[in-house]
Amino acid sequence: METVDVVVIGAGAAGMMCAIEAGKRGRSVLVVDHAAAPGEKIRISGGGRCNFTNINASPKNFLSQNPHFSISALSRYTQRHFIGLVERHGIAYHEKTLGQLFCDGSSTQIIAMLVAEMKRHGAELRLANSAENIERTDGGFSLKLTTGKVRCKSLVVACGGKSIPKMGATGFGYDIAAQFGLRLIETRPALVPLTFDPNTLARLKPLAGVAVDGAVISCGKTRFEEAMLFTHRGISGPSILQISSYWREGDEIGIAMLPQVDLFEALRQARTSNGRQALQTALGAHLPKALAQSIAEEARMPGNIADLSDRQLRRVVEMVNDWRIKPAGSEGYRTAEVTLGGVDTRDLDSKTMAAKAVPGLYFIGEVVDVTGWLGGYNFQWAWSSGWCAGQAV
Ligand code: FDA
Repeated sequence: METVDVVVIGAGAAGMMCAIEAGKRGRSVLVVDHAAAPGEKIRISGGGRCNFTNINASPKNFLSQNPHFSISALSRYTQRHFIGLVERHGIAYHEKTLGQLFCDGSSTQIIAMLVAEMKRHGAELRLANSAENIERTDGGFSLKLTTGKVRCKSLVVACGGKSIPKMGATGFGYDIAAQFGLRLIETRPALVPLTFDPNTLARLKPLAGVAVDGAVISCGKTRFEEAMLFTHRGISGPSILQISSYWREGDEIGIAMLPQVDLFEALRQARTSNGRQALQTALGAHLPKALAQSIAEEARMPGNIADLSDRQLRRVVEMVNDWRIKPAGSEGYRTAEVTLGGVDTRDLDSKTMAAKAVPGLYFIGEVVDVTGWLGGYNFQWAWSSGWCAGQAV
């Protein structure tokens, strides 16, 4: 039977980072993935340019049952460390917005960098290979691969979450956790578009494709100010994806489409300076035309703006800047960028990502109950947690 020091299941961001670090420490490492290519999610990320980290990444940008769990890993391997690696490989990058760093060229440069580093440090990558039947042995673990049985001292589970099943997401990491008695935090799709009920959808469908820059979306005490987008199913765009990680079925979300504008004052001025315009025209000075039209129709205030009272204008302001809506659901794992929940951090060591009760077993990346905001945070978690396990296996 083949024997190595470390088997990493999953050649994604976290698994490859762990393999590089373990290889640097002289460990023999085998990385297996059932996909035909490594880093498939890296490839499709950031619209093909990979938002590989965020300059401002800190534990407050992550959701977890234990908000302190990510502190150690994020401070031991920071965004600056990863940026240094990217620079050493001569990959050009830029900040797009809000500290988000993207490749100037293509996300495949990040994959090529990781594969080259694995090769340099002697980690073997075996693709089109599924891991099954994991068993505990005296000195570690044995598992069945498509290519035969393998034995290892350390087993690193880097299988990712459930999002985008058609790209190879399996939930296998959660099965391994359950097999070895680790607790699981219920999973749910996150960073995902939200959907409307059929009535709301029928009303708002003509707006599909309309975007609003800098909308403030709130759910409970959490709020994000970024763009939002009307879709054929409901709403999306960065601010909606962000709030989706906090939203639960039955929750109402608040939407302010013009948070920076004193809309009441602007409409009063429009009434004074050009009272013969329709409400839709006055709103169109601040909002996309189709949206202005939809709000004006919804408000049922025909005629000139000169005929509208302050009370009516306030009602319009409410519709624009305090729109309360209950999404019917989300688009689910089919389009979710990440999976919330996962392996319970109470059962993991925050410095090494080792399972506290199962020597030699490690969980890293998205399979763990640490989920980042949109904006490069999830890759940073993959790099940081992968690096930490790489120092310990
Ligand atoms: P990841 O999912 O990357 O890797 C897991 C690997 O395990 C896969 O290669 C899979 O094939 C393999 N696997 C699963 N089961 C297996 C089994 N039984 N046997 C063998 N192999 C198995 N984040 C970010 O920070 N910036 C961004 O720009 C984006 N953009 C983005 C776009 C889209 C469309 C998605 C879906 C996601 C993002 N993300 C993102 C999120 C980011 O991609 C995600 O958080 C990381 O890829 C997680 O890395 P992991 O290594 O943990 O899992």
